[in-house]
Amino acid sequence: MAPQSRVAPTMGGASHVIARDERYGEVTDDDVRHFVRCVGGDAAGVVVSTSATATNSKAADGAGDALDKYNVDWMGKYHGRSRVAVLPKTTKELSAIMSRCHARNLAVVPQGGNTGLVGGGVPAYDEVVVNLGRMNAIVSIDEDAGVSVVEAGVVLEELESAVRARGMTVPLDLGAKGKCQMGGCVSTNAGGLRLLRYGSLRGSVLGLEIVLANGEVLDLLRTLRKDNTGYDLKQLFIGAEGTLGIVTKIAILTPRAPTNVNVALFGLDSFASCVQLLKLARGRLGEILSAFEFFDRESLDLVLEQLKGTRDPLAKPCPFYVVVETSGSVKSHDNAKLQAFLKIVKNKRVIVDGVVGKDEKHAFALWTLRERISVALKYAGAVYKYDISLPTARMYNLVTTLRARLAPQFGSGVKVLGYGHLGDGNLHLNISCAEYTDALERAIEPFVYEYTRDERGSVSAEHGLGIMKAEEIIYSKDAKAVELMGAMKRALDPRGILNPYKVLPAATRVAALIPMSRL
Ligand code: FAD
Ligand code: MLT
Ligand code: ZN
Repeated sequence: MAPQSRVAPTMGGASHVIARDERYGEVTDDDVRHFVRCVGGDAAGVVVSTSATATNSKAADGAGDALDKYNVDWMGKYHGRSRVAVLPKTTKELSAIMSRCHARNLAVVPQGGNTGLVGGGVPAYDEVVVNLGRMNAIVSIDEDAGVSVVEAGVVLEELESAVRARGMTVPLDLGAKGKCQMGGCVSTNAGGLRLLRYGSLRGSVLGLEIVLANGEVLDLLRTLRKDNTGYDLKQLFIGAEGTLGIVTKIAILTPRAPTNVNVALFGLDSFASCVQLLKLARGRLGEILSAFEFFDRESLDLVLEQLKGTRDPLAKPCPFYVVVETSGSVKSHDNAKLQAFLKIVKNKRVIVDGVVGKDEKHAFALWTLRERISVALKYAGAVYKYDISLPTARMYNLVTTLRARLAPQFGSGVKVLGYGHLGDGNLHLNISCAEYTDALERAIEPFVYEYTRDERGSVSAEHGLGIMKAEEIIYSKDAKAVELMGAMKRALDPRGILNPYKVLPAATRVAALIPMSRL
């Protein structure tokens, strides 16, 4: 087997991690014909590169390649060069596709809405893209049990609309809701804006159906709240980022939707005040507190600069902002609690200023300032994104430390932004710049990872490891734990065809593969 090596970073391209593993087969015309048969001859189910070499960049005539949308990630940072994307409509079709890939040793990248932020959902090289977008049926919505069953390709916002119509909600909300799929969310164990209220997705997912690497179907699709019959295998696939199996169906709790929602935005003069506000919110708002998000002035400036229709929410600029959301069901009770909270935070001078959304439109505008920071960053140019769990009170120190570290060498052309899910101890550290350069990347990494390790934090709070951080897992996981992950990978995908180059470090991945001679 060809040795895999880490090579120098190149402009944020996925190829910066490792060389193509030559043990994988290359897709032939015969494979493509086979895939077409697998999807019942439906031409829409197999998309083939329209340029001879599928370079992922716009073709010389500017027309672009049919595979570009599958090969390039949301940020435009990770570029693969697959020549084929398959879009099955049923579990059976997907099973046949995977049997073929397994028999032919073809590497596969499972793909949902392609909104992932760590390069996990696009090919690193020429992997077959298996996009779940056409498996998008809502199978059932049980109002009595508060459980919905969906196919993996259902878009989060579409599920939210469907259950809302019946007075329920999805226990997950994030800025990519209009595009990300339930299968992608489960596979990254996405966190988002409602985690504070509903907890990790791990607790809300009741069952899964999976297609394994060899095409076998693993039926873990139960809708039971309680089931202690041995190991909880579905948990292995939640957050596995498509490296252990392909999620095809999901049973998820869809609780009653709150009928009374309030949104307030506060300006504060220090990060310590944000932390104090969190403590007060937990104590005073208690069970109606449903979100607690923060962002710094640098983040707000970027939003105001990049996103049309946004405006400064308060009369005077503040160094920090917090969005607090309450969700309950008795208006008078919730509003009284919120008013008491507002009074105390004003009296204690925890906040400098604040505003409460006066109606749904206003509340939406306030939320936009936080929720769309990632979109503003995308419009602003290149961005290095770090998604870190840190002790809440010290979280922002990393932002100021990195600013001080980068300023002398890179000046004002490089902006360091901090925002995130303060209520969950999750910092989004973003470095916005005109273009990706090795010099800047070297100034940030491994510094950020070492800092996180020294704080006993996590280098991936919610976005996953993908290709970006496969080697960096060691900063947050014990060597023994990584070794066990390799053993699980070997047990479920001995040929290593599922999302190679992602999640596990190269050495662990190689150790998990069956030797070439036994293939
Ligand atoms: P993709 O990007 O297509 O894939 C993500 C990973 O899952 C890949 O490794 C892929 O191989 C795998 N995968 C996808 N589908 C399947 C499947 N059916 N079976 C097995 N593996 C699969 N994340 C958060 O946690 N919190 C946030 O608040 C948040 N906000 C975001 C806001 C924006 C604007 C954007 C662009 C992204 C945000 N994200 C956030 C990133 C987040 O990971 C994704 O939005 C979402 O979870 C990915 O869903 P997707 O369908 O787009 O998956
Ligand atoms: C967010 O919380 O806005 C998302 O995780 C996306 C991001 O980190 O930019
Ligand atoms: Zn986030």
